[in-house]
Amino acid sequence: MGTMPGDLRFPDGFLWGAATAGHQVEGNNIHSNWWQWEQLGLVDDGTTSGRAVDYWNRWPEDHALVEDLGFGVFRLGIEWARIEPAQGRFDEVALAHYVEMIADLSRRGVKVCLTLNHWVVPQWFADNGDWLAKDAVAHWERFIRFVVPSLAPYVDLWITLNEPSVPYLVGNLIGYHPPMRRSPRSAHRVFVTLLRAHTVAYHAIHELVPEAPDGGPTQVGVATAYQFIEPYHTSGPACSLEGALCRLVRYCSFGAWDRALQTGRYRSLTGRVCTIDGLAGSYDFVGVNYYTRVSVSLAPSTLANVKSGEFAAPPGVPVTEMGWQVYPQGFRAILNHVAATFDAPIYVTENGCCDSGDADRRSYIVRHLAAMHAAIGDGADVRGYMHWSFTDNFEWREGFAKRFGMVRVDHDDPGLIRRPRDSAAMLSDIAAANAITSEIASRYAPGVSTSSDTTE
Ligand code: FCB
Repeated sequence: MGTMPGDLRFPDGFLWGAATAGHQVEGNNIHSNWWQWEQLGLVDDGTTSGRAVDYWNRWPEDHALVEDLGFGVFRLGIEWARIEPAQGRFDEVALAHYVEMIADLSRRGVKVCLTLNHWVVPQWFADNGDWLAKDAVAHWERFIRFVVPSLAPYVDLWITLNEPSVPYLVGNLIGYHPPMRRSPRSAHRVFVTLLRAHTVAYHAIHELVPEAPDGGPTQVGVATAYQFIEPYHTSGPACSLEGALCRLVRYCSFGAWDRALQTGRYRSLTGRVCTIDGLAGSYDFVGVNYYTRVSVSLAPSTLANVKSGEFAAPPGVPVTEMGWQVYPQGFRAILNHVAATFDAPIYVTENGCCDSGDADRRSYIVRHLAAMHAAIGDGADVRGYMHWSFTDNFEWREGFAKRFGMVRVDHDDPGLIRRPRDSAAMLSDIAAANAITSEIASRYAPGVSTSSDTTE
């Protein structure tokens, strides 16, 4: 397929695809801490993950769709609670099921990006004190060493942890996710433990897996949540104060984590320094999850989290059904920031839009891809884009009401029928062209600019 001047072409070999996570799609992850917590009735729309979209059984259908759409990469997660439902009892059958699932993707010519932990832990691990327990990292390492050898022939990109800031900030400081602690001390300890957990996983994978399925070097990284953080006000004393606060929010959200990965050292807000052997440089690529800008204002909501959507958007800025600002300029800035911080390839491991009617998703995608294209032009070594999400799924505390899927699935539909939305067709066409052509843009997102509004 040829491209014309003005089309946005991506580098040869660029990977296009979609992202999911075990607990959110599989269903019946009954031995997990989230499953237990959901029974408290705190999910906003009154749902529980239940059978989710039954990916655990319907993966052949989903993978066929991934292949039909022409996607080259698929991100999925495995659930520790299925594989080790009771402490020390490893379920070979569950592991074999996962192996079959990911081998199928690889047989279809789809590269596998596998997340080893997407926040959820086994209930027995939570009962022991989760990431605060003294032996937490030892348990985690044992799990990693159990699963990695069987999965290795099919995994192209390993993600040790998804968005570690969520367990330490949202689970332990803000108390919005399980285990609902509100303790700076716990948040600090979980942060350090997750750095250790990442380190042991990184080295265990390298020790156990000498090469990637394509014969190249084994690729291990983290998927980090990046928000573009700016003052709410654009001028005046409020803006200056908010600017200072922004530095703090940035440091807590991803800055401290990134610096620790580079240097092997972490300096807490109280000045305590902690050094972790093997941490420095423990990444072969960087996974970027980007959704939104956060406008920091001096209000109680400053300590809120992005998930609860409590950060107000400045007037005139469009927001999604999560209340998250649509701000593609921030995506370009974040990709450039990550490229300048790490000397490593970048994969966009999540980017997406909560939009039940699929009215705004295509425009969101086009504008964010244009921003990514601009960042690549600036020099960022971005190698792939995984859209969040493939199907609608269980959006954590927000439940099934919040829909991020390119493929519609109604949780209450007995048949759980998969209905690809127009956005799926659009991303499929973009993947086939390896470009946003003006024809694609005008067909799927008429009137949406692919240049001027995203390149500043
Ligand atoms: C990210 C999570 C993912 C999903 C999206 C909307 O923070 O990693 O599981 O909830 O947000």
